[in-house]
Amino acid sequence: MSEPVSSSPDITALGERADTMIRTLGSISAEPNRLVRSFLTPEHRAAADLIAKWMRAAKLDVSEDALGTVRGHWPGGSKKRLLIGSHIDTVIEGGLFDGPLGVIAGILAAEHFALAGRKLNFGLDVLAFGDEEGVRFPRTLASSMACAGIFDADRLDITDSDGITLRDAIVRYGKNPADIAAAAYTPDVAAAFVEVHIEQGPVLEYKNQPLGVVTSIAGQSYLNVEFIGEAGHAGTVPMMLRRDALAGSAEVILLAEKLARETKGEVVATVGLVRIPAAASNVIPGNVALIVDIRSGSDQARRRFVDHLKAEIRAVADRRELGLTMTQTRDVATTPCDPALQEAMTNAVRAGGGEPLLLASGAGHDGTAMARLCPIAMMFVRCRGGVSHNPAEYASPSDMGHAVAALIRFIENAKL
Ligand code: GLV
Ligand code: MN
Ligand code: MN
Repeated sequence: MSEPVSSSPDITALGERADTMIRTLGSISAEPNRLVRSFLTPEHRAAADLIAKWMRAAKLDVSEDALGTVRGHWPGGSKKRLLIGSHIDTVIEGGLFDGPLGVIAGILAAEHFALAGRKLNFGLDVLAFGDEEGVRFPRTLASSMACAGIFDADRLDITDSDGITLRDAIVRYGKNPADIAAAAYTPDVAAAFVEVHIEQGPVLEYKNQPLGVVTSIAGQSYLNVEFIGEAGHAGTVPMMLRRDALAGSAEVILLAEKLARETKGEVVATVGLVRIPAAASNVIPGNVALIVDIRSGSDQARRRFVDHLKAEIRAVADRRELGLTMTQTRDVATTPCDPALQEAMTNAVRAGGGEPLLLASGAGHDGTAMARLCPIAMMFVRCRGGVSHNPAEYASPSDMGHAVAALIRFIENAKL
């Protein structure tokens, strides 16, 4: 059923369109001076509507599931579908490219076939997920987990920082939690999932290559730590008599850094969130909660690290006479990308004249959930300075044009 594409894609035009679309999407934010777009918020709604409009213009059939994932479908000659996608939520003060590039690359690639009326042996579904960054709720990837059929109903009770449950957030978004099960693809339909994403690291730039092929997505642990000390007056309580929960937390932050450095690159650990519920400059902090984000390409090294860090944190609590609760809220194994799809992606990049680098992803992606449903592949696009989760995030129109062209070749040659 597949026929050769009559015209090869115009890389410059594709890159410029991707750039314009990314900037337009990037103007949808909860705040005027920085990009903030969280799951199931009015900004998510506005971004989803824009994505749907672009999908319709690309002649895709548009639908939305119970978690707000926008789906643009181009039918094929069998029930099988190639799923292509990424996310449209952002971190707080995020960049324009992390997520949107993969959705927009998918739309532009699907459009290449749809506007030409060209049917493949399989359908194309472009997916715009809304919960990859995990900013609003303590657990993440709800959207892709629903598509993969692994959404766990317990998750509906988790709350955001305003105490709104995921269940209520879904209802407020105009959806019905009872419909989540229907969002799942079946394995006979979902032949593969592919995602284009900025690298979020410096290797492609360093090696002077625009595109890379991902070998695996790093595993991840979250260790939620809460210290209970004793709040007190900053001017009156002698230093020796204090039980300062923030001073204990500071030790944990430095410990995580020190232990991760000692792994010589095998594990990375970050404390990016510290909550001091009753913070005031003249009060000894009595209660502090923090999250240690721990990642590695080796599950064994990551779990060893978590055990070691936990023991050290207990020792801090004992020494400082602090109450301690420690909960591991995430333990996600490293996700390998499918070897045959990696090869197909490598060939698609190479056919454009590039020599793709094989890279492991240190960042998390929706592919971690989708891999539970079907084989996955990812293409990385060079980003300036390796900067991401930062407003300075940048990928050039030319590199993005090459990425979309490679995605089109990948689709054309896919044996699903
Ligand atoms: C998402 O970008 C993550 O890796 O946490
Ligand atoms: Mn991302
Ligand atoms: Mn991200």
